[in-house]
Amino acid sequence: MSTPDLDAVLRAQLKQTLDHTPWTQLAGRRLERYDGKVRDCFIDAERGERVIVVTDRLSAFDAVVGSIPFKGQVLNQLAQFWFEITRDLAPNHMARVPDPNVMVARECTPLPVELVMRAYLTGVTSTSIWKAYEGGARTFCGHALPDGMKKNQALVAPILTPSTKAAKGDHDVSVSKTELLAMGRIEPALFEKAEALAVKLFAAGQQHAAARGLILADTKYEMGVDATGELVVIDEIHTPDSSRYWYADDYEVRLAKGEEPRSLDKEYVRRWLADVAKWTGDGAPPVMPDDVRIEAAKRYIASYELVTGRPFEPDTRPPLVRIAATLEAT
Ligand SMILES: Nc1ncnc2c1ncn2[C@@H]1O[C@H](COP(=O)(O)OP(=O)(O)O)[C@@H](O)[C@H]1O
Ligand SMILES: [Mg+2]
Repeated sequence: MSTPDLDAVLRAQLKQTLDHTPWTQLAGRRLERYDGKVRDCFIDAERGERVIVVTDRLSAFDAVVGSIPFKGQVLNQLAQFWFEITRDLAPNHMARVPDPNVMVARECTPLPVELVMRAYLTGVTSTSIWKAYEGGARTFCGHALPDGMKKNQALVAPILTPSTKAAKGDHDVSVSKTELLAMGRIEPALFEKAEALAVKLFAAGQQHAAARGLILADTKYEMGVDATGELVVIDEIHTPDSSRYWYADDYEVRLAKGEEPRSLDKEYVRRWLADVAKWTGDGAPPVMPDDVRIEAAKRYIASYELVTGRPFEPDTRPPLVRIAATLEAT
């Protein structure tokens, strides 16, 4: 799609972003509804399925701050892409994608921990590895960090920094493996299996990203146990919401100059919130101007196209009508 066309499509879409879903039932099926920050889930206990509607909501600093045109379609289809190409490395929850905004998944019992993999000394939030390092810490989640490192520099090797899942509204807490196991929240053997999958997936993700001119700086995995007891990757993987992606070509030059890497993730929105609107999560979020929403949409779309090497084909039909019709039929 040419740039002026894309602009017009994005501007038209501002008025019909998917920011909520109204359903309490789908196709007469008895479903339990769970609304996450970004996704609305409908759980079909009978079929052991979770119908995940990926909305256009954007969450930053642990709050929903607005909606971005086509963000749901981009994220869902990126997760689908990654689940397909990593299927042989790690089993995942994806069953089918009946609509650009919908993934039907195997319902699992989530592990009480998120598996965060980091390859760079970076971050903006108070709980990030960079803020800890800047504040003088030389170990992070049990990993030793050498003196004299610069912001955004590569770590000696990728590290796993588990994060315990907080209740809704609270912030997650990063812990070392030893601390995590001491909490008794998860069986050591199960955690180690999850750790091994996270390490493998991250290496594969970094390798694919590099081949596409990108750096996968860090990411977060969620895993769960399915009805048969198998450990599987759930949620989403390697999307710009769960990962930090940088352009590789000018990374070194910018690092040397002390400039921030050019990023493909929601860093752009975080920066607008923090630097322009002076909001970092306390109180009501500011209203995002149309131009910020459009710029953010372009970045999400670019991430899809760069990562997959395929053009993004937006589905511009009114989302609620379209999704309801699809789900009635599934
Ligand atoms: N296959 C699955 N089985 C059970 N829970 C899942 C599965 N896939 C994703 N989830 C959960 O569904 C929710 C997805 O919605 P999201 O908007 O990411 O919520 P949150 O605000 O909790 O991050 C998350 O709580 C995630 O843990
Ligand atoms: Mg989530």
